[in-house]
Amino acid sequence: MSPYHRILALESSCDDTAVAIVEDGRTIRASVIHSQTSLHAQFGGVVPEAAAREHIAAINNTLQEALDMAGCSLYEMDAFAATLGPGLVGSLLVGANTGKTLSLITGKPFLGVHHLYAHVASNYLDSDLEPPFLCLLVSGGHTQLIAVEEYATMRVVGESLDDAVGEAYDKVARFMSLPYPGGPVMDRLSQEGNPKAFSLPKAQTSGAYDFSFSGLKTAASRSFEKARELLPPNRSAEALRTLQADMAASFQRTVVDTLFEKTLRCAKDLNIKTLSIAGGVSANQGLRQRFQDFVNENPDYCLYVPNLKYCTDNAAMVAASAYFNPYTTDIRQEVFSRSPQP
Ligand code: KG4
Ligand code: ZN
Repeated sequence: MSPYHRILALESSCDDTAVAIVEDGRTIRASVIHSQTSLHAQFGGVVPEAAAREHIAAINNTLQEALDMAGCSLYEMDAFAATLGPGLVGSLLVGANTGKTLSLITGKPFLGVHHLYAHVASNYLDSDLEPPFLCLLVSGGHTQLIAVEEYATMRVVGESLDDAVGEAYDKVARFMSLPYPGGPVMDRLSQEGNPKAFSLPKAQTSGAYDFSFSGLKTAASRSFEKARELLPPNRSAEALRTLQADMAASFQRTVVDTLFEKTLRCAKDLNIKTLSIAGGVSANQGLRQRFQDFVNENPDYCLYVPNLKYCTDNAAMVAASAYFNPYTTDIRQEVFSRSPQP
């Protein structure tokens, strides 16, 4: 498959500094993530300049920790890999330049990885998944349905025409004064709320497998605002929390329904019975449960979801991607092609 048995990979495309060592694209020897969440939480979102500086401060220790965890030296690696894009330019440079430097020092190859390729590859970690399969990729920056025909042949069959689903979660959460990042907070809160409390619109798109979350985001924010205004001036913190939980549950129900229905329609049309989800939002309990319930009732389908640790940004998925696509990881190549849809 790949000439590189043991790959050390770096990920620094956004606000996580991560280093991992993975063997044969599936066996994780080490995975270390230095999260910058607390740094950016005070600003309510990622500040690119601060993120780049924090990557520089964290990269050496994160690298050393990963080597210690695997009990390996740099010279025992067969290749080095790093995310080259898409992402924040200043942040990407830290991982990319570190990877290239390690490659020069050791004389081993450097493999540049596409971040979305890496999210798809997170499903290969600790699993036996092989193409063909359909991947619903839901992250902070992207929402795509990807038909993975072979390890290096992927077709985008549907995508969001505006906001990514993670972005919509974060923006609605921010509107409700919930902490950053809003996705996991809304997910937890939704367990306490009534998913039928608010009736929110499901967007119609001309492409059968495309998505649109901008209208939903605006409708959720407006409905929440109206309901908040109706609360008495001396309202208790509990009353506000109930409102937040009800909106979180209603929003989540609408998002999960939309993602699941479009994925299933696409899978049926393409006659693909192996489904996977990937990206930060694949950590969402409601989304995972919805797919799992379907597969339990329809045993001719099977489902792969990444371990919760490998849903959000991490370097193990970068190593997996570099292993399975060692010749096609140059992001200057058009790795994804867009397909026509009904
Ligand atoms: O894949 P990721 O770590 O970074 C990007 O490549 O964008 O995804 C981060 C996104 C954020 O928008 C975050 O709010 C969302 O994933 N997210 C979640 C959950 N965990 C993370 N959204 C909904 N439910 C979750 N449990
Ligand atoms: Zn990501």
